[in-house]
Parts: sequence; C-alpha cells; structure tokens
Amino acid sequence: MASKRGSWKTRYGFYLLAIGSACGLGNLWRFPYVVGENGGGAFILLYGLLALAIGAPLLIAELMLGKGTRRSVIVATQQMSAKTGVNFRWVGRLAVMVSIVVLSYYSVISGWVLHFLTQFLVSLFSSPEQLTDKTNLAALMSNGWLQLMLASAHILITVVVVVKGVQQGLERWIGYTMPLFAVLVIILVMRSFSLPSTPEVLRFLFYPDFSKLSWDSINHALGHVFFTLSVGFGTMVTFGSYMREEDHVPTAGFRVTIVDTVISLVAVVMIFPVAFQASNVPLTDPALMFEVLPKYLLGIRGGTLFGLAFFACLYMAALNASIGLLEVVVSNWVDAKKEMERGKATWYSGAIALMLTVLPALSSSIFKDIRVGGRSLIENLDSLLINWLLPLVALGILIAFNRGVSDKEKELGFVDKDKFVSYSMYPHWMFVLKWAGPVVIIVGLLLQVIGVFV
Ligand code: PHE
Ligand code: NA
Repeated sequence: MASKRGSWKTRYGFYLLAIGSACGLGNLWRFPYVVGENGGGAFILLYGLLALAIGAPLLIAELMLGKGTRRSVIVATQQMSAKTGVNFRWVGRLAVMVSIVVLSYYSVISGWVLHFLTQFLVSLFSSPEQLTDKTNLAALMSNGWLQLMLASAHILITVVVVVKGVQQGLERWIGYTMPLFAVLVIILVMRSFSLPSTPEVLRFLFYPDFSKLSWDSINHALGHVFFTLSVGFGTMVTFGSYMREEDHVPTAGFRVTIVDTVISLVAVVMIFPVAFQASNVPLTDPALMFEVLPKYLLGIRGGTLFGLAFFACLYMAALNASIGLLEVVVSNWVDAKKEMERGKATWYSGAIALMLTVLPALSSSIFKDIRVGGRSLIENLDSLLINWLLPLVALGILIAFNRGVSDKEKELGFVDKDKFVSYSMYPHWMFVLKWAGPVVIIVGLLLQVIGVFV
C-alpha cells in the first residue's frame, strides 16, 4: 500500500501540492470580506497571530501524522484509535464529510469565477458595456440555474481531471501560471494604491481598533486560519503521506503558512482601496471581490485583457484547491474500503458534491427567502462549516495526534540537527499541541456560543 501510494521524486512536487491546496479563493475572495465583517485592523492582527501560533503548529501536526502513518486521515485516525483505545474514528470521518460539503460550496464560488472569466472573454469580442453594468453581479446572483450550471461545470471539470489522473501534469502547469498571477496582482496593488481612498484604507487595515472585535472574532479568525491553510480537512494528512523520508515537516509547514498569509495580506491591500472607492458596496458582502474588481478593471486601459488574465489565473487556483479537496475524499474512500476502485470513488464523490451543491447554488435566488439569523443559506453553511465544524475537527485531529504519537516520535519528526530553527522551536510547538492549541480552540468555541445569545 505504502509503495502504491508513492512519494514525490522532488521536494518541488510536494510544495506544488501543499501550496496549491492552501492558496485559493480563501485568500482572494473570503479573507477580504471576513476582514470587512470583523472591522479591519484588530482582526487582521488577531488573524496573523493565530495563523502563526496555532495554524502553523497544527498544519505541521497534520503533515507529520500523514508522513508517519503513510495513510489518509480516516485510516490514520483508526490507527490512533487502535493504539490508544480511545475512539478517534469519528474525527477522520467528520473531516472527510466536511471536505465534501466544502467542495460543493467552494464550487459555487468557483462558478462565479468561471462566470466572470467567460464574461471577460465575451467582452473581448463585443462591447464591454454589458460588464460595466452594475447589474451584472446582481444578475448572476438572482439567476439560480446559471449558478447551478456553473457550479456543476466546475465539479465536472474537477472530477474529469482527477479521474484521468492528469492532475500531476496539470498541477505543474498551474504552478507555472502562478508567477503570472503574482505579476498581475502586484500591478493591481500598485494601481489601487494610487487611488485617493488609500490613506483611509491603510488606517482601516493596519490601525487596530480593538473595540471592533466581538465575541465570535476569535473563532472567525481561527476558522479562517484553518480554512485557508487547509487544516482540519485531512487534506494535509494525505499530502504529508506523499512526503519523502528526508523532507523536514516543520520547515514545510512554516513555508506554506507564510506564503498563504502573505497572499491574503496582499489580497486585502489590493481589494480594499477599490472597495472604499466604490462607496456603495458593503465591505461585509460575501460577493465583495466580485462586486468591485470587474467593474474597476473595465474602467482602466487594457482592463478587459487584464481581467481575462486575472480571472483565468484565479480559476486555475480555485481548480487546484478543488482538485485537492476531491483527491482527499477519494484517497480516504479507497484507503478505507480496499475493494473500492479509484475511478468509481471519484465519480461517486463528484455525484455527491453535485447533489450537495444545489442548496448553496440556489441560496441567493430560489431560496433567498430562507434566512436563519438574518443570513442566507450559503452564509449559514459557511459559518457552520468554517466557524464551528473546522475548529472542532482540527481539535479532534490534534488530540488524536497528541495521544497516538509518542513524544519521542514527535521530537524525531520535528528536530533536525542541521536546522537550528527547528530545535529552538520544538518546546513552543509542544506547548501549542498540548496546551495553547486546545485551550484557544475551546475558548474560541465557548465565546462564540456566548455570542449567539448576547
Ligand atoms: N485553503 C483553500 C483556500 O484558501 C481552501 C481549501 C481547503 C482547499 C481545504 C483544499 C482543502 O482557498
Ligand atoms: Na488559503
């Protein structure tokens, strides 16, 4: 089994997978509006702190669990159960369930990206007026069938890539589009920095006003840390199982965390000046990025071509992250049920995701009157998954790792004689695993519960 699973010949392959899975819509689409929702600077500070102090250590734990067991999360947690006599099976199962539900809802947003990609493509050949029209996003939002079609198309593309087994080639290819994406984003940052709203934006983003934090801010930050780092899904357990013996897990975990965090920061710096300029757009709107960017791009010279390239790159990133999600569901399925064939498991998973996508896809149209707590279906699904379930699953994986892996094994995996940093950080990592991590997650959940009632 371990040999069939294989591992990467080069370190490069692992980083493409791990960074490809981490960097996606979470950074460009979700982070900005969550920052808007939670009042800016103070939240960004809290977020950065939690990403480094809790996110990175847990990411390292997940990778190490995979590298140590050479299995996916369901079988890995089964092994931990057998070893300790404590039932951790539910953790792995819940992680995979969360993954497939997240895939279904991630597909809706990927569908929005597809929509703007095709719109920019079309307006290359016709007049850009149709895009400048502000109703464009509104039109997409109110058209449930279009959203459902786009989401289904995205799921189909993802399934076909995974079934054909071409993802290694594709991932490499996607890896090459990322430098282009970086250049586009840097140009956009420079452009939006020249907008008159910039001073106000910098104040909003980097001058912390702690009175803006609320009861659920810790969990909003923590949930997003897990989502954006792909922690608590079992994804990183699977990727860890592909690592080579000589790869140093802590270094990898920190690199992925830093890259992902930098990209999120760049994303807010890019989007907020434009959003402040368009003063009619609420910063808390989940469609924030889609609301402000296309319109802004069309207003600048060469914007149509730029927008096309931008949304094409963004789609590649979204596809890459989706492939990771689906692959993990499939690898767990095949690992747990030996008689299951890989291709079949992929189609079945795709079919389940397709069924699940109906609800979020129709959330802003047919189901728009179904509101719980003043929020739409998709917003509630997002909150349930990311603010409640992810911290819980992450905590479960953390405890399984703590109990099932001996301290000697942890030390062997963490400390590398040649890497001084790893040696000096080892006590901190252990402290987070045993104390700080569980305490912060539990306190965050409790505060969130209080927030529901006050
Ligand atoms: N981390 C991805 C993002 O930020 C989302 C994701 C989560 C992808 C889990 C794969 C697995 O967009
Ligand atoms: Na991310």
